[in-house]
Amino acid sequence: MSRRIVVAGSLNMDLVLEAGRIPVPGETLACSELVTVPGGKGANQACAAARLGGAARMAGQVGNDVFGAELLRSLQLSGTEISSVRTIAGATGTAVILVLPNGENSIMISAGANGSFALDASGLEALQLRAGDCLLAQLEIPLDTTFAAMRHARERGAVTILDPAPARPLPAELLRLTDWLTPNQTEAAILLGEPGLQIDSYDGAATAARELRKLGPAGVIVKLGALGCVIANEAGVRAHSAWPVTALDTTAAGDVFNAAFAVALMEGQDEDRAARFACAAAAISVTRRGAQPSMPTRQEVDDLLQTATRETICL
Ligand code: RIB
Repeated sequence: MSRRIVVAGSLNMDLVLEAGRIPVPGETLACSELVTVPGGKGANQACAAARLGGAARMAGQVGNDVFGAELLRSLQLSGTEISSVRTIAGATGTAVILVLPNGENSIMISAGANGSFALDASGLEALQLRAGDCLLAQLEIPLDTTFAAMRHARERGAVTILDPAPARPLPAELLRLTDWLTPNQTEAAILLGEPGLQIDSYDGAATAARELRKLGPAGVIVKLGALGCVIANEAGVRAHSAWPVTALDTTAAGDVFNAAFAVALMEGQDEDRAARFACAAAAISVTRRGAQPSMPTRQEVDDLLQTATRETICL
């Protein structure tokens, strides 16, 4: 029986503009044509997991508007099971995304239906989590709901992966329920209570990962974008280099990373192979525009993995 990947999180319609730079306060800046793209950290992770061959199930909430219907369609097309996604009266979550010429982005979100998503006992039961399955969580739904899902997953013996995005200081109890905490550089700095901290090397990320482990999670992966990632658990601290690609749009690269890591773990790969698989999947996603349209297929990731062996560096 295949091990399931359950995502409890957000669904957003992304309203994307490309601009030469971020406007300063008081400025009006001409941008590209507006495009709407299915997104939301939760839905992105479910969609990416399904495209990579995982048995993905999404739990979340959309509004009864055109965006909500489109988001459900996108997830269904990816092969994600959506019976735990509720539709309520009101607006679907949206994200306004500005993509810069170097592929980096700025994102502003409006929670919409994500903001009232809750999981009671029957909602948790409906997730159908079993021992050995995996829960993927992020921070775009109420923290109490994330807490309930993480606690339930731990009780069921599932692997818990928490993407601390958007970053905020987190209660120790939640971190102790976490098997893998997966911040990027800025999120790691915020979780450590040092928002200005620059984490731009393997050594810097290794120090951050060791410190983060002291806060409760069993394992930590610091996602370093073009550098790859640093992984820390009871076996030690290692770095995995990234695939060199030209980034067009980094939106959702972190979501693809988490989904791919979960898919590989659920297949029984060890965490280092899973981290390399995740780096490869994320590398492909940044060469394409948008969140869900950028997600690679299994074949594409397997092909990239064949092209070169990446280094594993013990730190
Ligand atoms: O991680 C990228 C996602 O963040 C976007 O799709 C946007 O919806 C925001 O949730």
